Amino acid sequence: APPSTFFAQMLVAWQHQHGRHDLPWQGTQEPYRIWVSEIMLQQTQVGTVIPFYQRFMTAFPDVVDLARADLETVLGHWAGLGYYARGRHLHRAAQEIVQQGFFPRSPEELQKLPGIGRSTAAAIAVFAFGRRAAILDGNVKRVLGRFFALDNPGDAELWALAESQLPDRHLEAYTQGLMDLGSLLCTRARPQCTTCPLQPQCQAYLRGETLRYPTPRRK
Ligand code: ADE
Ligand code: SF4
Repeated sequence: APPSTFFAQMLVAWQHQHGRHDLPWQGTQEPYRIWVSEIMLQQTQVGTVIPFYQRFMTAFPDVVDLARADLETVLGHWAGLGYYARGRHLHRAAQEIVQQGFFPRSPEELQKLPGIGRSTAAAIAVFAFGRRAAILDGNVKRVLGRFFALDNPGDAELWALAESQLPDRHLEAYTQGLMDLGSLLCTRARPQCTTCPLQPQCQAYLRGETLRYPTPRRK
């Protein structure tokens, strides 16, 4: 596809007007706060995460507090979020960060920490360090799959598309907009196409086939 700025420009504008702005991990560039939020949000929805996140921050206000806490205490605060491996990895990563004396800033270095995959590394790099990096979680895959009407896209194709759409500016609004549009508008079962800023160029919408995309992954 030819380079286009439509996708990114619409997302940034939509984010400013309609996206989420008051989440407890927004309005800060503190890497610790952003990192913890992104780990919690990996498999848990925003509304569920918020109270856990706030209690967690009260219990472990910074990375040093988390690093020196007992694993059992940390997992006690994880109870209810599920996927306990995330809590274990978070604790171990905190110890690595404290040991090396700084928070890694690039997506490549962030990915070396336990529990941080490619998309989470990108989200942290964007929100905490203003880097230019592409996220690709389940919501983003669905938005891309529909917007480009992709048939059985593989991860390599999806990552390449995600990177090709990155704007040069407003990475934070773009990234948050992509997350918010995917979870608030372009939902799996009932996409709200009539209020979607991407609708004029959304290939799935234009074909009247929003529910056909994303097609199931080829195994
Ligand atoms: N899902 C993953 N990261 C998120 C964030 N920062 N805001 C909303 N949803 C998210
Ligand atoms: Fe999703 Fe509909 Fe927007 Fe296309 S127009 S991106 S299917 S909400």
